[in-house]
Order: sequence, then structure tokens, then C-alpha cells
Amino acid sequence: MAREFSTVGVVGMGTMGSGIAEVFARSGLNVVAIEVDDDSLARGRGHLEHSTDRAVARGKLDADGKAALLGRIRFSTDLADLGDVDLVVEAVPERLDLKEWIFGELDRICRPEVILASNTSSLSVTELAVNTGRPGKVVGMHFFNPAAVMRLVEVIRTVVTEPDVAEDVTALAEKLGKSPVVIGDRAGFIANALLFGYLNHAVSMYESSYATREDLDAAMRFGCGYPMGPLALLDLIGLDTAYEILDTMYRQSRNRLHAPAPLLKQMITAGLLGRKVGRGFYTYEAPDSPKVVDDTATPSTVDSAEATRAVRRVGVVGTGTMASGIVEVFARSGYDVVVRGRSSDRADGAVAAVRKSLEKAVLKGKLAEEDRDAALGRITATTSFDRFADCDLVVEAVAERLALKRTVFEALDEVCKPGAILATTTSSLPVVECAAATSRPNDVVGLHFFNPAPVMKLVEVVHTISTAPDVVATAHTVCESLGKHPVHCADRAGFIVNALLFPYLNDAVRMLEAHYASVDDIDNAMKVGCGLPMGPFELLDVVGLDVSLAIQRTLYEEFHEAGYAPAPLLEHLVTAGRLGRKTGKGFRDYS
Ligand SMILES: NC(=O)c1ccc[n+]([C@@H]2O[C@H](COP(=O)([O-])OP(=O)(O)OC[C@H]3O[C@@H](n4cnc5c(N)ncnc54)[C@H](O)[C@@H]3O)[C@@H](O)[C@H]2O)c1
Repeated sequence: MAREFSTVGVVGMGTMGSGIAEVFARSGLNVVAIEVDDDSLARGRGHLEHSTDRAVARGKLDADGKAALLGRIRFSTDLADLGDVDLVVEAVPERLDLKEWIFGELDRICRPEVILASNTSSLSVTELAVNTGRPGKVVGMHFFNPAAVMRLVEVIRTVVTEPDVAEDVTALAEKLGKSPVVIGDRAGFIANALLFGYLNHAVSMYESSYATREDLDAAMRFGCGYPMGPLALLDLIGLDTAYEILDTMYRQSRNRLHAPAPLLKQMITAGLLGRKVGRGFYTYEAPDSPKVVDDTATPSTVDSAEATRAVRRVGVVGTGTMASGIVEVFARSGYDVVVRGRSSDRADGAVAAVRKSLEKAVLKGKLAEEDRDAALGRITATTSFDRFADCDLVVEAVAERLALKRTVFEALDEVCKPGAILATTTSSLPVVECAAATSRPNDVVGLHFFNPAPVMKLVEVVHTISTAPDVVATAHTVCESLGKHPVHCADRAGFIVNALLFPYLNDAVRMLEAHYASVDDIDNAMKVGCGLPMGPFELLDVVGLDVSLAIQRTLYEEFHEAGYAPAPLLEHLVTAGRLGRKTGKGFRDYS
């Protein structure tokens, strides 16, 4: 017989505990909510009031429902009030000594058959279990932030957890409307193990002034469709909690990429814990407010006083997917465009691809027929570099081979007028290599568009050590005129997005290789727990495993971080010709 849960205890009413109490009460369970003192209890009650008010404002709950929900929660500062509950979820700060003490107390207070669960993000559930006289009844029940909204719950089963305990907790999570996944006890479980290396990397990028906080966050939102950027997410999680999670992960993995970035410690010491105190990477209107306000670090990413160069006529070198997408973007925004292919067939093919895409936009009602005709009328196809002589900006989008790109830049250097801006769309080669192939490195910049260029809003504007400030400012203005969101970074492998994305994808492959969780469980955890548009294996299969491996190798060769070494499984799949969707087989089979 499965257990019936009618009353549950929640210990700690902070960011997570108050959300967890709300989830239980919303499902009709009675809750005993415990805090350390009256002030903290009042704050916890405040979190609940605030969150249920929001649910009422959104029409998800009515006033009676709110009163009934809150009426099911009893608040106390005495753990002894948990004597009659059927389950306890502990959500106190991420410190092993504190949690061990709480579990010792709960073991003494609660009936012997009662299940004790921890919401820990990274600490060993096994250690908490063996600290009690009922190790078989201890599990992890890891909710995600905000607990009332996020559907993933990781149920952590230790080697001594009794099977029916994990089953009953899983069934309860389902009853709460959550999507549970049952896994073993490993620091970070699925989602955090994959997420926190990425978050930590973003902090390091910010710490080294590689990009601004706004640009780092915008890059992941507009480049990958993430619901939040990494620094805004850290503010939501709480920097103190994030630090503890990373620290535990580092101690278990000894992976340097998990060693908390020094800046985190400094910010914690200075009291900048994130949204809960009103200041973290960003400044908020008030503690717990999601509204970001300007502060001394609020940048204008480029100096708006910087002069820009006039750009009217644009050249595009190349005829592939990216090149034709870029031609379309410029032509639709009113620029005259010259597209150059190696043969007139190829050049005409690129124009045909633009025509097809514009046609589709017309059919969907997104573009007027006369605008389609006007855009097409602005495009000239050519096979000769000479036609770039009067272009103000030339964007190179040929195949990702350095020797080829350098030849193109040498040719552009010969024919382009002085002051023309020469840009490369490379996603993994050094922009400075293209600059060095010219006699005018100051005029060379990276303009990394994302695929499909007409749809994706992000453009990474990459400056080398030689790029002139007015070239960067012009690139910024041009991107804005295209309706794109430009972000700025220096010339390092992977720029912002790929450098943050691919090590995370590689970590997911390593997790699969270690048989910790399945392809489906990992994909689901990242989608449901972190709100990502695709799971890592779904994305790898779309991008192509050969392309992913090449990017991962580039990162490894540039930074020589042991953690960036491509996962052997990724190498093997590529060797076996399983390249993802394009070959019908990758991490999954496609028919
Ligand atoms: N923040 C997140 O995004 C997140 C997500 C999932 C899991 N977690 C985990 O949830 C747990 C809580 O994290 P949080 O972010 O809610 O922290 P928090 O600091 O917001 O809340 C912790 C609460 O515990 C209370 N507390 C401290 N000692 C106590 C005691 N002896 N008895 C009762 N209450 C006590 C504190 O007063 C505080 O209100 C941690 O284990 C964390 O790793 C956090």
C-alpha cells in the first residue's frame, strides 16, 4: 500500500521553502512551516502572501482559494511541532553541518515511518541519511526555483533508500503536478551539475571584463532562447546558495570549472546576494523585486559619443545558408547588397534562396509583395571582388576554413575603398587572423550572426586588439538598424554564446557516458527544470555532432582546460558517422 500524505512539514521558509509550502498547500495538503525565529517566519509568510497575491492577480487563484491555501499552512518556530507530519522537506541554507543537525532533530521528533527529504542542491543525501536512525527513509526532493512554477523535481535515491520510499515520493510529486525524475546521489544531480559549470563560466567572463553583464545575459537569451541570462539567474538563485553548490561540486569533481569564481566570494562578503537582498550582479528596485534599476555599472555597451561611419552599400562574400540569410537581412532593411559567389550559378543560387525565403514571408502575411520586390531589387549577384570597390561594409560568410577566409580578406584588401569595414561571420576562428591578412587590421571586425540569420536576433560584435572604436560603434549601429540585438566581446574562441554553450553540452555527454541518467531524463531535466527550449541531446543532434565536436576542440585547444576535452562518446559517434539529424542518427534515431 502506498503511503498517504496529508500533512507535510517544511523546514526553512526562504526562497525555496516558501515556494515548496505553497505547492503542497495548493494541492490540498496541510503544511507545518518552520523557521528559525519570528522575523524569518514573518519574511516567509510575506513570500507566500506575495506569491499568492500574484496568482490572484493573474487569475490563477481566487480570493477564497488564496485564503484556503494560506489557511492550510501553520507557522511555527519549533521543530517539535513536526511530531504529527507524514513527510518533512528540509530547505534550510546549503550547509552540511546545519542540515545534519536538522536531520538529527527530525529523526528524534518524527514518527519512525516518516520520510525525511532534503531540498539540497548539491550536498550528499547519503550523508544526511546516515546521520539518522532511518537511512532507508531519507531521500532528496529537489525542487527548482521558483518552486511554485517549475515542474521538475529530482528525487534522489541513495544506495540505502528503500524502493517504496522513492516510489511514494515520486507519486506525491506527480500528484503535485510536477514532473519527477529519479536519480542517484551525485553532487548537482542532473540539472545543477550541468547548469552550474555554465553559470560559473559566465561569472568568470564578467570578472575578466570579457563582456558586460547585460551583453552576457542578452547573448544567451537571444542566441539560445534561454528564458534568463546566466547572471540574472544567479541573482535569482542567490549568490550564497550558488557558491555552496559550486563548492560542493568542486570538492566532489575536482573539476576546475566548478571552482567558484573568486568574484562570487567577494560579492557574498559584500552582502550582494542577489534579488533576495535587492542587489547582486544587478540592482533591484527593492529586496525580492524582479525589477532591475540602473546603477553605477549600468553601461551603454558602446560609447554613444563615438563617431560612426556611413554604411549604405554592403557586400556579402559567400553563397551558403549564412550568406544568403545575411543578404536577406540587409536587403530587407533597405541596404543595397552585392553578393559574390565563386560562379554565377552559385551567386544566382544565393539570390534564389533569398527570393524563396521572402516568398515564404509574403505567404505568411509577414511581408508585403512590394517590399519583397523592393528587397530583391536591391540585390546584385556577381562573381567578381571588384564589385565591392564602392561598398561601405563587406561581410565575409564563406566556409569555416582559415586559409580560405584569409584569401578572401587579402582580396577585399586589394579592392575595397579606404574606410570600408571588413567583417567576418566566423563562429570559431580568430577574427584577428582575418585582420592580419589585410593591410588595414583596424577596419576588421567580427559580426557573428546566428542561424537562421533572418530570425535570430543576436549578433556578436567581436573586436580584436586592433579594431578601431568607430568600427565597433558602426557595427553596433548597423546591427540595430537591422533589428538585431548586438552584444560585444573580445576575440576569444567561441565568443560568448558558443564558449558558454558547448562545454555544457559536452558535460551532458559525459554525464550520459557515466550512465548517471538517460538521454530523455537529461533532456527533460534541462527543459523542465531550467526552462531551456531544447535539451542538450536534442540540440546536439540539430547542430550536428561533427560541428559540435569541432567547436569543442577549438575551445579545448585555445584554453587547454581539462574539462573542455571533448567527451569520448562524442568523438566515437562522429567517427561512426552518427552526426545527428542530418544523417538520421545521432543521440537519437530519426526516421
Ligand atoms: N535558491 C535556489 O534556486 C534553490 C533551488 C533548489 C534548491 N535549493 C536548495 O534549497 C535550500 C534552501 O535554499 P534557499 O535558496 O531557499 O535559501 P534561503 O537562504 O533563501 O532560505 C533558507 C531559510 O532557512 C532558514 N533557516 C536557517 N536555519 C534554520 C533552522 N535551523 N530552522 C529553520 N529554518 C532555518 C533561514 O532563515 C532562511 O529563511 C538549499 O539547500 C538550497 O541548495 C535552492
